[in-house]
Amino acid sequence: MTGPLPDLAAPPSNPNPNPDPGADQDQDQDWNGVWDWDGSWDLDLDPSAVRALWPLDGGVAHLNHGSYGAVPRPVQQEQDRWRARMDANPVRFFRREWQPAVEEARRAAAAFLGADPDGLALVANATAGVCAVLGSFDLRPGDEVVVTDHGYGAVTAAAARACARAGARLVTVRIPLTATAEQLAQAVLDAVGPRTRLAVLDEVTSPTARLVPVRRLVPELRTLGVAVLVDGAHTPGMLPVGLDELQPDFWTGNFHKWVCAPRGAAALWAAPEHRPTLRAPVLSWRDEEGFPYSFSMPGTADSSAILSLPAALALFDELGGWPRARARNNALAGYGQAVLARALDLRPGQGLSGDPDGGPDGGEFAPEPLLSMAALPLPEGLTGPDRVQQAIADRAGAETAVSDWNGRLVLRVSAHVYNHPEEYRQLARALPALLHELLAAEQN
Ligand SMILES: Cc1ncc(COP(=O)(O)O)c(C=O)c1O
Repeated sequence: MTGPLPDLAAPPSNPNPNPDPGADQDQDQDWNGVWDWDGSWDLDLDPSAVRALWPLDGGVAHLNHGSYGAVPRPVQQEQDRWRARMDANPVRFFRREWQPAVEEARRAAAAFLGADPDGLALVANATAGVCAVLGSFDLRPGDEVVVTDHGYGAVTAAAARACARAGARLVTVRIPLTATAEQLAQAVLDAVGPRTRLAVLDEVTSPTARLVPVRRLVPELRTLGVAVLVDGAHTPGMLPVGLDELQPDFWTGNFHKWVCAPRGAAALWAAPEHRPTLRAPVLSWRDEEGFPYSFSMPGTADSSAILSLPAALALFDELGGWPRARARNNALAGYGQAVLARALDLRPGQGLSGDPDGGPDGGEFAPEPLLSMAALPLPEGLTGPDRVQQAIADRAGAETAVSDWNGRLVLRVSAHVYNHPEEYRQLARALPALLHELLAAEQN
């Protein structure tokens, strides 16, 4: 334990929880009415009908969509149909139907991402996409690869391994939790030197839910002669992608997170100059066709996840379209962050003393706009992310993400169309007392 117990706000009480948006008008008005939900619902179905589309445990607030996604019933049913078709006649399916179906899904994926289909391959997940790039990229001894300290663990480990194999150096840019977009971009640019060959940048960071300004950084880094691999694991469904405009060197992203496809559905895009040298990690019968078809047949495989992508896209059209779903999710994540910040007594503009690099007062707490996830630093001195995550699940009935980020625990909550403002309020009511207890237990 490194400091005194924080002065956590008394949990706001709500004697009559009402699941209707905006129902808590009289609750806790002392931070600009943060307890109110004034965002519109803005979907074509009412909240309970939307929630019923997901087979999620009704007793749990599912506030961690970011880690593993959540598959809606119509998409599960579509995947079941593909599997039934596969098993009704495996020989017919794999010899005559599989690759044409994969090709159709690949083209649907390219259209959704605004990508030239010749540059888009299907992969099982973002980790596989990153590993394909790092396994193919021609790194030489003394070269440098830039990552940030907000990077996803497995991706940073893959970059470290590629560097070790080539005798290159991994440069990890330290970026305060509270850095502005401008400071964040500048920190990355400042790390570029004459030997920098590649930058691996997450568009939305995993432990800290920060938006990395890749739309600004990609052209600047490429002008400096640095290739950019954008890890867009969280981007599809959370933000517009527009690969034809972004034009990085490489991009990978998941459909099994915010698009709600079944797990195992992801894409890898490469700029034209990299396509001839980009190798599939698993060499297949289609290898000679080159990128992207060299990725379409990774041995005998169950492709039902990616084959169900069109069903996931169609579901969101029925709900009112992606722009509406994204706008609502971003607003709800912001609401969740505000309610939880109130519970943790964090105020915009307030210093975070525990932030390792945040200047004299540790930088300022500033909510990140436009995302479907939001992060909050937990009280200084709290340790054991798994223990805290489990305590929140067991005692507050909410699944969240808790990470140890540079020695500070960070709580991340998400918002998708099935979530409701009351779920964040419930967590906010439970969190202060729960954290007090966990901290007290650590002090003893
Ligand atoms: C930023 C980032 N990159 C990569 C990944 C890896 O995704 P997957 O496990 O689907 O490969 C994640 C997963 O959460 C992530 O958040």
